[in-house]
Amino acid sequence: MVAASRTPGGLKKVLGPFDLILMGIGAIVGTGIFVLTGTGAATAGPALTLSFVAGAIACGFAAMCYAEFASTVPVAGSIYTYSYATLGELVAWIIGWDLLLEYGLATSAVSVGWSGYFQSLMGGFGLHLPDALSAAPGALPGVATYFNLPAFCIMMALTALLSLGVRESARVNNVMVVIKVGVVLLFIAVGFRHVQPANWHPYMPFGVSGTLSAAALVFFSFIGFDAVTSAAEEVKRPERDLPIGIIGSLTICTILYVVVSAIMTGIVPFAQLNVDHPVSLALQYAKENWFAGFVDLGAILGMTTVILVMAFGQTRIIFAMSRDGLLPAKLSEVHPKYGTPFFATWMVGIVFGLLGALVPLKVLSELVNMGTLAAFCLVAVAVVVLRKKRPDLHRAFRCPGVPVVPALAVLSCGTLMAFLGAVTWIAFGVWLVIGLVVYFGYARHRSLLNKSPEAGGSPMGVSQSAMK
Ligand code: ALA
Repeated sequence: MVAASRTPGGLKKVLGPFDLILMGIGAIVGTGIFVLTGTGAATAGPALTLSFVAGAIACGFAAMCYAEFASTVPVAGSIYTYSYATLGELVAWIIGWDLLLEYGLATSAVSVGWSGYFQSLMGGFGLHLPDALSAAPGALPGVATYFNLPAFCIMMALTALLSLGVRESARVNNVMVVIKVGVVLLFIAVGFRHVQPANWHPYMPFGVSGTLSAAALVFFSFIGFDAVTSAAEEVKRPERDLPIGIIGSLTICTILYVVVSAIMTGIVPFAQLNVDHPVSLALQYAKENWFAGFVDLGAILGMTTVILVMAFGQTRIIFAMSRDGLLPAKLSEVHPKYGTPFFATWMVGIVFGLLGALVPLKVLSELVNMGTLAAFCLVAVAVVVLRKKRPDLHRAFRCPGVPVVPALAVLSCGTLMAFLGAVTWIAFGVWLVIGLVVYFGYARHRSLLNKSPEAGGSPMGVSQSAMK
């Protein structure tokens, strides 16, 4: 999910499998495990553990396709870049439009998660916000809430940093990974002793359908593993290291998620976990208030970097789409002093900051999942199409078992999509229709690729000729 804007060529091949696994974990662990497990537990009961396994399986298949797609075009970047260079403008537009939803709303969703833990931490010091400013309208049943102030403030603070050119560095990422995994392990070590196995019965109170509905929600916890593929160019032996990085980080996160959800539902009766800081709530429930404070702090730091990575990715996709003429040119203007897409960064920050302040987390995260799952399905199909259309292309990594694995990716991601709510489907449909209207009404006529095909006009400097 990181840099979509590196220049092609000249990147050193320095990364090994271990670096990739760390990079993956850094982008993956965040609001999903720290926050959505609360709603997940209320939806699936203790079978939340199985929901995580189902989500991981869908991600695993999709990841194989994603890795092939990412390693085919010799440039680092997001799948918008790859699809533009390989499948043409309309498909790229749809994927890019999907990704705008994924990255943008993911920042909103994580800011809401951040706010829940921030308020929990402040609560430990006896500081409480007025209800009205603590959450989005309708987020807390029976409480009059209007605006999630901490969520909006963290978005504004990080937007300011990004617009001034601050980027997450590999070193910061590694420190964050240690802190995030550290608090998760701390939770496991402390929480383990307080498990009451009676809380695990009944194991599947809402049946298979509840388990899969929760899987469709907690799928959010795995988003970010594609960060690993975006580094394809800098990997020493991509054929071997990319799958190790992807499968390694997914496996480690899945194990952590399954163990954490088992312990959480073992400490607290699942219905009571439906709060916005369920992990620290479980420790508070067990009267381990000190440790709960540490978990709050670690979660806050961890989620801060997830917002930063997602917001960075978002501005770079907008930048690329604007440079290709598909979005207004103002969005790819670079600030003369800071060297960042200043206007785009603030526009995105304010829009998605307001959405985080005004829309409940469940709505946001379901929409993010829908956008991501749809993009994964498109990528899986694209891998098969590209194998037929361009068998000659060099692929640093080849998805095993084509077309079976891509078909399984579509099937498993499609199943999760089917378990998302009707409102999410409608909102997603509306978003796609708006996207098509914008494309046919505006973008297509202004596209630089349409205007001068031989000039390339392709994103991130990937010229069409690079594909030949
Ligand atoms: N997987 C990331 C998170 O859970 C998006 O915050």
